[in-house]
Amino acid sequence: MSTAIDDKLVCVTGGSGYIGSHLVSLLLSRGYTVHATVKDLKDEKETKHLEALQGAQSSLRLFQIDLLDYDSIVPAISGTFGVFHLASPCIVDQVHHPEKQLLDPAIKGTNNVLRAAKEAGVKRVVVTSSVSAITPSPNWPPHLVKGEDCWTDIDYCKQNGLWYPLSKTLAEKAAWEFAKENDLDVVVVHPGTVMGPVLPPTLNASMLMILRLLQGCTDTYQDFFMGSVHVKDVALAHLLVYENKSAAGRHLCVEAISHYGDFAAKVAELFPEYNLPRLLFAKRYTARTVEDQGCSTKVDGFRHAVHTMDQIVKDSVESLKSKGFLS
Ligand SMILES: NC(=O)c1ccc[n+]([C@@H]2O[C@H](COP(=O)([O-])OP(=O)(O)OC[C@H]3O[C@@H](n4cnc5c(N)ncnc54)[C@H](OP(=O)(O)O)[C@@H]3O)[C@@H](O)[C@H]2O)c1
Repeated sequence: MSTAIDDKLVCVTGGSGYIGSHLVSLLLSRGYTVHATVKDLKDEKETKHLEALQGAQSSLRLFQIDLLDYDSIVPAISGTFGVFHLASPCIVDQVHHPEKQLLDPAIKGTNNVLRAAKEAGVKRVVVTSSVSAITPSPNWPPHLVKGEDCWTDIDYCKQNGLWYPLSKTLAEKAAWEFAKENDLDVVVVHPGTVMGPVLPPTLNASMLMILRLLQGCTDTYQDFFMGSVHVKDVALAHLLVYENKSAAGRHLCVEAISHYGDFAAKVAELFPEYNLPRLLFAKRYTARTVEDQGCSTKVDGFRHAVHTMDQIVKDSVESLKSKGFLS
């Protein structure tokens, strides 16, 4: 009997999530068989949108995992050739218990997933980090572009209670350490603020941000630059770094770097009917694309697939409307 691992069998942790469900959909369309993990198999909000994907009936299997429970992760990864590790809590609202809510699942979860991958003989792991593991980095020399060489300042995050960036930074550092110590092939993707069509019935943090903006939220973010990126491009970037064996290291994945005020102005320009609060547009910056920031993803072929900021905003708003989140 052959014990060869099927090279088209992969696991996606966090498959039920916003980015995860687009990645599962892409993988199925490219002929992969997918083990997707969810937190609760009995919760239809986590499973139904995945089961409805084209190809799901024949090529998708769902597994329930808890990132803190190593034994729960093993069956999802066992027998797979590659792993996409996306599962991680993403909380932008106030965090009351940083260890429990963010740090433990992100860091211990990453270690558990990589350990299970190593034990199962997985050939390649794609880890989803974030721009939040690159910046805030206030001591980075101002004349240098913040790209893949730059790391978020851990002390700055601790001092300022920036728990999500801290969780992503420490989780990514743990991933690199594990990969080095255990000779595991790991490659990392760093999406910016991911937006576009929504597949799950609930909204993740980045789509909540644009929804709140359209609903008139007047929160201002001093010096907040965001790297918008279309969710389909993020899914594609994961697949490209997985399939391109020469892809190594960190891969920033953003379309445009813009100030939050400019982003709000763009949404208002495209959807004037929502009367976005004008005070947000007071501080204007010129939106610069990644090309002139010099920090596009290194993945071959990716640059040409990037949706524009207009498409990102339009697809997000249309999806929020069609799903009933916006009237
Ligand atoms: N959205 C962005 O703008 C953005 C930008 C950069 C990086 N990222 C990263 O991309 C990844 C996916 O984010 P997303 O936006 O798709 O968020 P999401 O929709 O909230 O998805 C997160 C996924 O992780 C799972 N998860 C969380 N805690 C878990 C735990 N303790 N045990 C098992 N599973 C757990 C969630 O399961 P449930 O659905 O059952 O809760 C969900 O499937 C995350 O690593 C995030 O940090 C996101």
